[in-house]
Amino acid sequence: MTKTSSKQAEGAPGRVGLWLVGARGAVATCVAYGIAGLRRGLVAPVGLATEASEFQAVGLAPFEALALGGHDVCLRGLTQSAGELVRNNILPSDLVTATASDAAAYESRIRPGLLDSADVGLADLHPASAELGSLPPREQIARLQRDFDNFKRETGVERVIVVNVASTEAFREPRAEWRTLEAFEAALDSGVAQPASSIYAYASLSAGHPYINFTPSLGASLPALRELARRRKVPHCGNDGKTGETLVKTVLAPLFVARRLRVLSWQGYNMLGNRDGENLADPLHREAKLRSKDDALRSLLNDPSVHTKVGIDYVPSLRDWKTAFDYIHFEGFLGAQMSLQFTWHGSDSALAAPLVIDLVRLADLAARVGEFGEMHHTAAFFKSPIGGGTHDFHAQFERLREYAASHAR
Ligand SMILES: NC(=O)c1ccc[n+]([C@@H]2O[C@H](COP(=O)([O-])OP(=O)(O)OC[C@H]3O[C@@H](n4cnc5c(N)ncnc54)[C@H](O)[C@@H]3O)[C@@H](O)[C@H]2O)c1
Repeated sequence: MTKTSSKQAEGAPGRVGLWLVGARGAVATCVAYGIAGLRRGLVAPVGLATEASEFQAVGLAPFEALALGGHDVCLRGLTQSAGELVRNNILPSDLVTATASDAAAYESRIRPGLLDSADVGLADLHPASAELGSLPPREQIARLQRDFDNFKRETGVERVIVVNVASTEAFREPRAEWRTLEAFEAALDSGVAQPASSIYAYASLSAGHPYINFTPSLGASLPALRELARRRKVPHCGNDGKTGETLVKTVLAPLFVARRLRVLSWQGYNMLGNRDGENLADPLHREAKLRSKDDALRSLLNDPSVHTKVGIDYVPSLRDWKTAFDYIHFEGFLGAQMSLQFTWHGSDSALAAPLVIDLVRLADLAARVGEFGEMHHTAAFFKSPIGGGTHDFHAQFERLREYAASHAR
């Protein structure tokens, strides 16, 4: 990351606003109830990397300092999302009861979001989101920024951090106007529609709010928006949280490379039953996810001849419980052929929520100490880290540890 010379690391954390785009989705709901539970001591910080001893001297924002708001395009209430997660054995019902007032405060700060132009067929679409989606991009940006400003004023937070946990958008081929900030802004001025995730990213970065993209959607990964983050001196990170099959792949693949075992095929298959899975059942939405999932393995094995494939299917009865099967066919000394197979059965949202909380605390720290641009030290959290670098989870995590050590106070 780059650092301004003027700011020092010494500032104590103030109140931090966490703005969730996709505010009533499964991940956002687990983040909201999880933070409320952590704040009241009802939930243990299991799964939070920033609670490890390395981070104790860094001065990260405490859970009590976080205030929540967000955008969503649906009419579904937060309690309905929570009810689904209770029925699926993810959210404990006593936690939902004990934190009802926090949830109500959060729900009152959820505003109609910006619908992506490719998602017009959404079943429970908020009419205000459809209307926002039809406005010229400059007006969309002004409306989103007005929501950020109101949230900041109402909650009195020092900083707003915008996190994209909305449904994965349809895949788009690269466009010329994404290459530079000048071309992107000219396209906005001429009313050329852009992916909603990139409009949210532009709205937050241009207003000076750090931006985290937990999804495979484009967000701030466009070169134009990376340039904007550098110019406005705002930190950002993404793309696509590394929570399940890809996490295990990026732990295991370095083993084969280090021991010079030749991987012949790596076949992966995912079954998802939640709303995310339903969304990914659409081929255009699935394409964005598959690209992001295959990149890491290809780059780690560094051998274009290896057969790698990832499949995703929607299996409704699984609900939030994602199951992945991987079959790794490999060759050892004397040409002996062997295999490793694993099954990963995890709650998608319970895996994702602590990562979102970690990333918010890290983005707050980065902004507080004057760092900006891509947050390279967060690569361990993402399937396609914007700043590039190795996909090796151990190397990525070591970098995070070194970052923590260098920021100890
Ligand atoms: N759960 C994981 O382990 C994991 C890992 C990596 C990435 N992700 C990504 O996180 C995202 C959220 O996952 P989820 O399981 O919570 O999905 P979800 O479908 O439960 O929630 C998504 C929410 O986003 C809302 N939404 C859709 N378009 C929007 C827009 N343009 N603006 C604002 N809100 C919008 C939907 O109404 C919904 O409430 C997905 O993109 C998923 O691919 C999840």
